Order: sequence, then C-alpha cells, then structure tokens
Amino acid sequence: MKIREYSGSDKQSWIECRVLSFLDSSYFDDVQNFREEYDNPVIQMVAVDDGKVVGFLDCEYEKIAGDVCYFKGERGGVIWHLGVLPAYRKQGIANQLWEATKEKLSAVGIARVEVWTQDDAAATAWYRKNNFKFREAYLNAFIKGTAQDKVIQKYVNLPKIGEIYGIRNFNFEAPIERKEELAKICYRLHEVRVYESQL
Ligand SMILES: CC(C)(COP(=O)(O)OP(=O)(O)OC[C@H]1O[C@@H](n2cnc3c(N)ncnc32)[C@H](O)[C@@H]1OP(=O)(O)O)[C@@H](O)C(=O)NCCC(=O)NCCS
Repeated sequence: MKIREYSGSDKQSWIECRVLSFLDSSYFDDVQNFREEYDNPVIQMVAVDDGKVVGFLDCEYEKIAGDVCYFKGERGGVIWHLGVLPAYRKQGIANQLWEATKEKLSAVGIARVEVWTQDDAAATAWYRKNNFKFREAYLNAFIKGTAQDKVIQKYVNLPKIGEIYGIRNFNFEAPIERKEELAKICYRLHEVRVYESQL
C-alpha cells in the first residue's frame, strides 16, 4: 500500500473507489461518474494497493482568502472528498492520507481546513480524532409521496405544475432548528455539519 499524489491514470480507479467507499455511508446516493476539475489549487492524495486506488483525499485551498472557504479569515482549505474502501478501513489509511496532505498544505502556507460532512459515525469519529471542531450544521431533508399526500400538497405547488402522479424524491436543505418538525415527515433526514481544524 502506497500513499502518493493522484495522477491522471488513476482516474477510473479513483471514481470506482469513491463510489464503493460511500456505499455504506449516508452519501450512498452521491454517485459521481466523473473526476471534477477544481478552480483553485488542490492537493489530491491517494492510497494505492496493487495498482488500485483504495483511499483518497482531495483538499482544495485558497490562493486568495475567501475563494473557497465558508468561514472568513486567513487563507484556508476545504476537504471535498475523503474515503477508504471498506476492506481497507481501520488501518490508519485515512490518517496517512491526511498527514501527507497536511505536510503539503503547510508547505504552501495553509493552516486552516474546513470540511462538510453528514452524520455518519465513522467520519464523525475520524474528524474529531483529527482535531476538527464542530462549527455549525444544517439539514439535508428528503420527502416523497403521491399528489394526494398532505405533505406533498404542503411542500409542492401542485396547481402550478400541471398533472403529476407523485414526487419520487424531493430533496431540500433547511435550518437545523427545524429538525424535530421535519423528522416527522421525512423518510431521510441528515445533519450536514461543518468542522474546522487549525493545523
Ligand atoms: C471515515 C473514513 C475515511 C475513515 O477511514 P479509515 O482509513 O478507516 O480511518 P483510520 O484508520 O485512519 O482511523 C483513524 C481514527 O479515526 C477513528 N475512526 C475511524 N473509523 C472509525 C469508526 N468506524 N468508528 C469509530 N472511530 C473510527 C478512530 O479513532 C481511528 O483510530 P483507531 O483506529 O486508533 O481507533 C472511512 O470510514 C470511510 O471511508 N467512510 C465512508 C466515507 C465517508 O464517510 N467519508 C467522509 C465523507 S466527508
């Protein structure tokens, strides 16, 4: 197992690793069949075993303060992707990816990193163990139903959109203060939390 920088030839293996790493998390439906391009500089680390990507960490960082981060202040970075294949977990691979990333961030003068993550136990424990402090949260909410359902009638402007049979998935973001109320009507409801770490 080797920790190294991502290269273009890892692309397909990286995409597959991301999908499989998220399957048992609340991001199971965040399937990406592409590798995004970043507007700002990025550190892209991978863990590779026998030529196959088994773990990954992308951290985009600011050239100019305010370009990437949610919180204002000195130049910072944002972890956009972190995952390790289930069979490779709890062996310190995410830690090694993070250590390598921190070294590179420090070399470019970045000392502050943010991450947005949902309420998965493993990810939450990992970020806390690595000194990320919880800052704030909002809700990622999902409702569904037929046009006859009271919830759908309340949330969708049915008379305006013409005849429909139902809503397969209505996904919206909401303030954290509405958690108790929305928990009663959502078939899925996640807290999306932003953490910050001073390196
Ligand atoms: C979160 C994740 C990347 C951790 O990867 P990993 O390589 O298994 O993590 P590490 O082995 O480096 O773990 C380091 C520490 O984090 C904590 N940790 C990691 N996984 C944990 C779990 N399932 N439960 C509790 N603590 C955990 C532990 O403190 C662990 O130290 P320990 O092994 O000495 O107890 C991995 O579980 C994963 O890919 N999850 C699904 C994808 C995901 O949720 N990504 C984040 C979305 S933003």
